Amino acid sequence: MIDYLFEKIEREQELNKEDLCRLLALENPQELETLYNMADKIRKKYVRDEVHLRGLIEFSNHCRNNCLYCGIRRDNTKLVRYRMDLDEIVDTAVLAQKLGYKTVVLQSGEDPCYTVDKLEYLIKSIKARADVAITLSIGERPREEYKRLYEAGADRFLMRFETSNRALYHKLHPDSSFDRRMESLKWLREIGYQVGSGTMVGLPGQTIADIAEDILKFKELDLDMVGVGPYICHNDTPLAGSANGDVEMTLKVIALTRIVTRDSHIPATTALATLRPADGREKALQCGANVVMPNTTPMKYRAHYALYPAKICINEKAEQCSACIHRRIFSIGRPVSRDYGHSLKRKISV
Ligand code: SAM
Ligand code: FES
Repeated sequence: MIDYLFEKIEREQELNKEDLCRLLALENPQELETLYNMADKIRKKYVRDEVHLRGLIEFSNHCRNNCLYCGIRRDNTKLVRYRMDLDEIVDTAVLAQKLGYKTVVLQSGEDPCYTVDKLEYLIKSIKARADVAITLSIGERPREEYKRLYEAGADRFLMRFETSNRALYHKLHPDSSFDRRMESLKWLREIGYQVGSGTMVGLPGQTIADIAEDILKFKELDLDMVGVGPYICHNDTPLAGSANGDVEMTLKVIALTRIVTRDSHIPATTALATLRPADGREKALQCGANVVMPNTTPMKYRAHYALYPAKICINEKAEQCSACIHRRIFSIGRPVSRDYGHSLKRKISV
């Protein structure tokens, strides 16, 4: 049976939900190696060897939402909150460019303090001072705001749908609805953004069938980028005491996402590296991933952007993360890309 599925992958035939469930259940080391090698081959064919670096700037940990799993949720009173001011964010983006990153990712909780006027100023100021693509990861906003931010120069938007299981989504997100998330992703695409989304693996209550549906959803949404990381339990949340997501399962999801989506950008996520600091990113890059998002947040804020505990890189400076990431990528014989790393799915005018 498994040989038949491997043959299907080899011939680039579509995998259905049942196929994905069987492949997600693989545990035999030799079969896993075959799966990872196949994903790596497809990665090489469709997105080549270059690894794209996106400098991540976590500019505010204030959040109006109360997602059950998230350490920066509104009700976590133990967290020290911070907001970077606009000029400090622009300076950080300039530093990111100096480190060789061709994209900056501006990420925060859902923080209405950054009005659309302020964000427009921010995007225009970054574009005036640094030759970088800008990705926003700021959560749900009205359509009109997304449009203004795109017109101000933002290129891409990242917003995970977290799980395709509607009931589970509603349990985990008291402030948002599954339909609203999906509609937001549709708006972003219509407006012209390159759109990234993704999920967590191992959420409490999630099944293998749910994960198979997630992967089919990535394909259906025709995403330009798909980020998948393990769920990591944070004890200052209502999910305290729950088990972390599994590293091997996350690698299987990355491999199958590559096999199913072919040319989407896929990051080796920080959450995966947190559960496997020694070689989590290298492993991901060898089973389908082609993007890394080094942390560029000024050091004094890093520890406070605590989505989950023991996050890597909180004691390193941006320069150290850059050197570390370059070393890791070269160690597996891959080059670092020198271009913006735009979507390969559609024509992007720059
Ligand atoms: N507020 C924006 C949004 O909702 O898209 C961006 C920031 S949000 C904190 C970034 C991502 O962190 C989420 O999409 C979620 O998948 C991930 N995340 C949050 N808590 C996590 C946890 N406990 N374990 C793993 N990933 C987590
Ligand atoms: Fe804000 Fe999760 S609580 S994104």
